[in-house]
Amino acid sequence: MCGIVGYIGNKPAYDILINGLKKLEYRGYDSSGIMIYKEKKIVKKTKGKVADLENLFTNSNEKKGNIGIGHTRWATHGPPNKTNSHPHTSNSGEITLVHNGIFENYDSIKKVLIKKGYIFHSETDSEVLVNLIEDIIKTKKVKLGKAVYYALKQVVGAYAIVVFDSKNPKEIVGARLGSPLAIGVGDAEYYFGSDATPFLEFTKSCIYLNDNEMFIVNLEKGLTVREIEKDSIIDPFVQELKQNIEEVEKGRYEHFMLKEIFEQPQSITDTFRGRLISASHPISISSLKKYYEVFKNANRIIFISCGTSWHSSLLAEYYFEELLRIPVEVEYASEFRYRNPVINKGDIVIPISQSGETADTLAAIKMAKEKGAFLYGICNVVGSSIARETHTGIYTHAGSEIGVASTKAFSCQISLLLLMALSLGNKFGTINQKRYLRILKELENLPKTIEKVLKSNDIIESISEKYLDSQNFLYLGRGYHFPIALEGALKLKEISYIHAEGYPAAEMKHGPIALIDKNMPVVVIATKKGNYHKVVSNIMEIKARGGKIIAVVSEGDQEIEKLSDQIIEIPNCDELIAPILANIPLQLLSYHIANKKGCNVDQPRNLAKSVTVE
Ligand code: AGP
Repeated sequence: MCGIVGYIGNKPAYDILINGLKKLEYRGYDSSGIMIYKEKKIVKKTKGKVADLENLFTNSNEKKGNIGIGHTRWATHGPPNKTNSHPHTSNSGEITLVHNGIFENYDSIKKVLIKKGYIFHSETDSEVLVNLIEDIIKTKKVKLGKAVYYALKQVVGAYAIVVFDSKNPKEIVGARLGSPLAIGVGDAEYYFGSDATPFLEFTKSCIYLNDNEMFIVNLEKGLTVREIEKDSIIDPFVQELKQNIEEVEKGRYEHFMLKEIFEQPQSITDTFRGRLISASHPISISSLKKYYEVFKNANRIIFISCGTSWHSSLLAEYYFEELLRIPVEVEYASEFRYRNPVINKGDIVIPISQSGETADTLAAIKMAKEKGAFLYGICNVVGSSIARETHTGIYTHAGSEIGVASTKAFSCQISLLLLMALSLGNKFGTINQKRYLRILKELENLPKTIEKVLKSNDIIESISEKYLDSQNFLYLGRGYHFPIALEGALKLKEISYIHAEGYPAAEMKHGPIALIDKNMPVVVIATKKGNYHKVVSNIMEIKARGGKIIAVVSEGDQEIEKLSDQIIEIPNCDELIAPILANIPLQLLSYHIANKKGCNVDQPRNLAKSVTVE
């Protein structure tokens, strides 16, 4: 996600835009830019943070205009660099636009515009839109507002945009579908932002645009809000904000981690956008299509990663071996890079990394590349070092993850890995059509299913209160749930500082069961599929020794309820979908325990969001 700002009124726009962008950097910060207008237009943009952008304004005359727009980027199309950063300007130089969102059909529109003679400098979908608007102004002989209206009827995807036309410098136009856009209403002045933080200090009167709405602000005529589908004027609701700035950044959530846990339905929608259209459409992953023969002829797949991403890799091993019948290995990057591994031609190495900057993973990639492996990277940060170091790959599009403890990025990783395994398995013919379609249908509904799982938040919060004084936890899972047991344990220990260990449930009898007593809470993931009855036996063994059981179970399971101290139900689903759902209650359990213990949930002690050192 990106941050967009704008201002039109009687004050100098520069400080409003720059300070507004700084308040939105939590939405993305790989590059930024602003446009300011006073008799002529000035556009400055750069890779890096807003502070780097400020350094470009050396001449005070450049800061004088009372109208402007700005953008801080979270790259989705094209790596972070000056050319791809916003604002984008049309070929004539007249139209300037900032955009937060993703256009799925930008490529086809770009081809039409190129045929008409338009030239493109960036790899972004946003530059296509600004030139489409220009083309409509020219061909239909309409003004900016109407041109934006016609342009938005042609695009498919999500957007929040603010647009300016130098030929009519008393006007600003904007619109939203799927990405937030707020209007701050002042006295003959208007502010725009991805949320209210950029203008909260100037006005508390705020209009949150709804999807399919657009606005036209004209300094002489004032504000008009229109409904795009019906092409009709509406009377917008102006609310008086009560929040302070910090609250607005996190929305209604106390911490970014909780916000990101609850963003997961949207994040997974973004991960699947353009790739999983519907269960009745073929899965569309361009990098797999392009390198299909490489995967078809692979002798082995090796996942390399760290931390939570290593847990995604472990689950990927279960998915890929089950669905592709290709041998898979999972390596800690920090070990792999130093142990001189055997890598042969025909080996595919898949690094997984949210940040794309983890030093151990990056070093392991370079070593594997030297040994002749084909590298397919899975990252969240577009244009990150790992994304640039690999031969090809795919972005998870989880959006900017601020909380140090990874939540939505992990869920997007494992959902995407399952989609990839399904896509390849279907092409290899190693998964039967009935099972393929059943799982694909459940993936299509996954955002809605996760919404249901998140409704257990209050139950999980009350469960957490019983375990605040625990010194240790065990997490157990079998099969697909074993990686989730490890991930649940990592989440708890890294934000609550309670020692926690994850184990395959069957491993209990090989030592860990010696730890069981009434002070040892054991989280067991025990959904109906797989070795369910063996997990029931493991629970009984723990019960017999006085252990406390918190069980994650399939909806309606009464057998385990009788054996457990607490249960958390998740919807019945396919065995391969269950780990994606089971992980979410464990995120919430760790969050509430840590928060109630007064821990710094978003920035836990000793940790960093990206470990760029060895
Ligand atoms: C996860 O909650 C931790 N923040 C940490 O284990 C993280 O997953 C690990 O450092 C790997 O980071 P990456 O995915 O950015 O490479």
